[in-house]
This record gives sequence, C-alpha cells and structure tokens, in this order.
Amino acid sequence: MSQTINILFLAAEAEPFIKVGGLGDVAGSLPRALRALSNDDIKLDVRLVLPYHPAIKADTLKPLGMFSLARGNAEIQAEIFESVLNGMPVYFIGGEPIHANGSVYSSNYGLDAEKYTFFSLAALELPHHINWLPDVIHGNDWHTALSIYGSLTKRWEEGARHVASVIAVHNLPFMGPDISAVLESYGVQLAQTDLPDWARVMPLPLGLWASDAIVAVSPTYGREILAEQYGCGLDSFLRSRGEAVSGILNGLDTDSFNPADDSALGANFDILTLEKRAINKSFLQERLGLPRDPETPLLAMVSRMDVQKGVDLVFAALKMMKRQKWQAVILGTGDPKLEEAALELQALFPDRVKVETRYDGSLARQIYAGSDMFLMPSRYEPCGLSQMISMRYGCVPIVRAAGGLNDTVTHGVTGFVFEKPHHMALTAAIKSALKIFTDPQKWQAIQRAGMAQDFSWQNSATQYLKLYQSIIKKP
Ligand code: GLC
Repeated sequence: MSQTINILFLAAEAEPFIKVGGLGDVAGSLPRALRALSNDDIKLDVRLVLPYHPAIKADTLKPLGMFSLARGNAEIQAEIFESVLNGMPVYFIGGEPIHANGSVYSSNYGLDAEKYTFFSLAALELPHHINWLPDVIHGNDWHTALSIYGSLTKRWEEGARHVASVIAVHNLPFMGPDISAVLESYGVQLAQTDLPDWARVMPLPLGLWASDAIVAVSPTYGREILAEQYGCGLDSFLRSRGEAVSGILNGLDTDSFNPADDSALGANFDILTLEKRAINKSFLQERLGLPRDPETPLLAMVSRMDVQKGVDLVFAALKMMKRQKWQAVILGTGDPKLEEAALELQALFPDRVKVETRYDGSLARQIYAGSDMFLMPSRYEPCGLSQMISMRYGCVPIVRAAGGLNDTVTHGVTGFVFEKPHHMALTAAIKSALKIFTDPQKWQAIQRAGMAQDFSWQNSATQYLKLYQSIIKKP
C-alpha cells in the first residue's frame, strides 16, 4: 500500500516568488525535489507557505479565503492566497503585520517581530482552512521557528494527532528579536525551557528547543555549531539535544546553473568542451574593461559584502600580491564600508581590478564561466552555493575550511582549501593556485574534477526523506 507524507514547508523567501539570499534558493528547490522523490510506494505531498510580502506580484495568486487570529482583545485578519508551481501548491499568508513591513527582512526588529510571529502562528491555522493536515512541519531559520514552537500546543483536528517537526538552520547567529510580548499577546506562553535565559525569548532557540530534528545545512556546520567557536552561546544546549542535531548538504539547481545551456553566456560549454571557456573569459575581460589576455589568471568574487564572507581578507590578500600577475573582478552589494574598501582596491589597481557594487544575476553567471579562480574565504559558511556553481562552471574555488565549503571542495583535487581566517593564509592559497595555473594539464584536471561532481538536489532530498521517516510519530 502506498504511503503519503504531508509536509508543510515554511520559509520567509523562496524562488521564483521572492529571493533575498541563499535561503530563497533552498526553499525554491528543496520542496520540489522532495515531491519528485514520490513513487509507487510513497507520495510526498509537500506544500510551501510564504508570507505575502508586498513585493510579491499579486496577479498570479488566487484568493482562498480569510480567517482571524485572536490578539489581546482584538482579532487580526489573515488572508490566504494560492499559486501552483509545477504542480506544487504554494500558499501565501497576508495580513496587516506582513504588509506593514515593506521589505522581506527589516532593520526594525519590532516590525520583524510582529511580522514573523503573525506569519508563524497563522501558518499553523492554514492546514485547517485548506482541509489538509501535515505529518511534518519543516521550518527554516528564525522567521518560521515559532511555527514549530507553537505546534507543540496546537490542538490538531484529529485530537491526539502528533505532528513531527524539523528546523533547518541556515545561519545560527540570526536568532530573531525578543518576541515575548508579541507571543503573549497571541496567548502563547513562554515554556520552561532549558535554554540559556537570554535565548528563552527568541524565536530560533525556541524552535530548536521544540523541534524533533535540527538540521544544519551541511554536515560540517552541523558539527561546528556544537562547539563554542560557532555555537553562538547555544553550543551547550545544542550538545544536550544530542542525536537530534545533524547536517544535510544543500543541493544546487543544476538545471538553472548549467554551463552547457545557460543563455547568459557568450559560449556554452561542458566538461568535454572546456576550451570554449576561453571565449567567455575574453568576453568577460572585454565587458569589464580589463586587458584581454588569456594567460593572466582572472580571480573572482561574487558575494554579499559582509564580514561573514571574508571579503576584507580578499582585499588585504590582493594588496600583498603586487608582484604577481592576476586580474580580479568583484561583484556584490552589502555593507557600505566594505563596498567602499572594494572601490579603494579598484583605485589602487585600476588596470587589473574591476568592482561592481550591485546585484546582477547574468553578470554573475558570466563571471563563473569566464574567470579562473573563485575566492570564498568565509569566516563561517553554513553551506554556501557559489562554490558549487563555480565548480560546475569550471572556475576553481579557493575557500576556507568552514561549514559547507569544507564539505564541497577537496584541497588539491577540486580546489584549494585553507584553514586560518587570516589574509596571509588566503594569500598563500592564492599563490599556490597561481603556480598550478601555469601548468594547463594540472589545472584542467582540477577544473574537470570540480565539473564532474554531482551537486543536484536529489541526494539532499533523499536524506531529508529518511529524516522525516525517522521522526514521524504514530498516532
Ligand atoms: C545562508 C548561509 C549560507 C547557506 C544559505 C542556504 O545564507 O549563510 O551558507 O548556503 O543560508 O542554506
């Protein structure tokens, strides 16, 4: 007899509806990859729920109805909309706290506290209104962690029904604001938890406490958060959750990121036609206004301008390498101080550094396809996507041995890996890459090894399915 598992997948953002960062890629891909695992024996009915952010275009959404949540002495209306993405129902929850906050993530903690508490609690009411009950609630990051916490006391329609829960940790330091007052106004009590005092009022810790399974987005990050250096004060609590904590590597949308079929590129190529990358390199150098020279190694960084990403290490390392031959392209926005530092680097090396302080998806693809080395010296990296894209496009990654970088790049085989979050360590790694670059045979072997890896979502989805099966409780 075939079994059906209903999975309510909650996130603050998901492609193609709305995307700010890596979470949007994951929430856009994983639910569909899970559904694709369905076969004659098992059916995975995954449904995605997102906030109806003002930036989401309304014309493709179908209104499904309204319900209200009691808050203090008043009621707040929640509206439900539906869209269908390749056969998967996607629900959007609208309401005043979501509309009041124009952006997906606000720098105003108060607005975010209101918005995501409302969203998380309303999402728990959704199943009742669509006549479909979940077996598993899969939350992501602090924005949806209160759904997991709230599900503990939620009375599901079948009375004694238990709903299993998973929380995916994409970035532990972001735990959310103090939501104690907002939560109380909805009549949800703060439980007696064994969390540290400061964490008892924050969404992510409450979700970690309540969840059956805690999944970090790579095996290495799953181990790192158990130690003081990356545990953000929760390491001892997380260690006490013992076997509930694991790590599953994110996948990559290999259809979208495919150098053989990417319309943004000047020339498409694959592992057998690697020589065509040269056309992309020359095209990129020209587009950037850099001297067109196939022999000069072109270093690239495509990143949020954030200290997490170690972009400052790149600036410092390149300043140390005046004597070597290289060019560099840096694409990304973020911290204004880091953007300024990038522009200073460009002023220092006007004929070899090109900086673009904006988000540009198609330029990013041309950079992956046309540069030689990809720099990603992150101080911490829960998973990371760019190193996987760069390998798929034959651009050799130089990364720090953190989180998902450590799980996806093998030193000397598919890229270069260094340990210390220090610009001298990065400089040494770049220098050894530059040396091997002069030997085309060795270099191409590294490119091909990277391109041959399988980063598709199927593997990750299979691991999530096993996890769901291990935590689904019998009624
Ligand atoms: C966060 C992490 C990044 C990860 C992404 C998706 O943005 O910083 O490492 O790849 O989430 O899980």
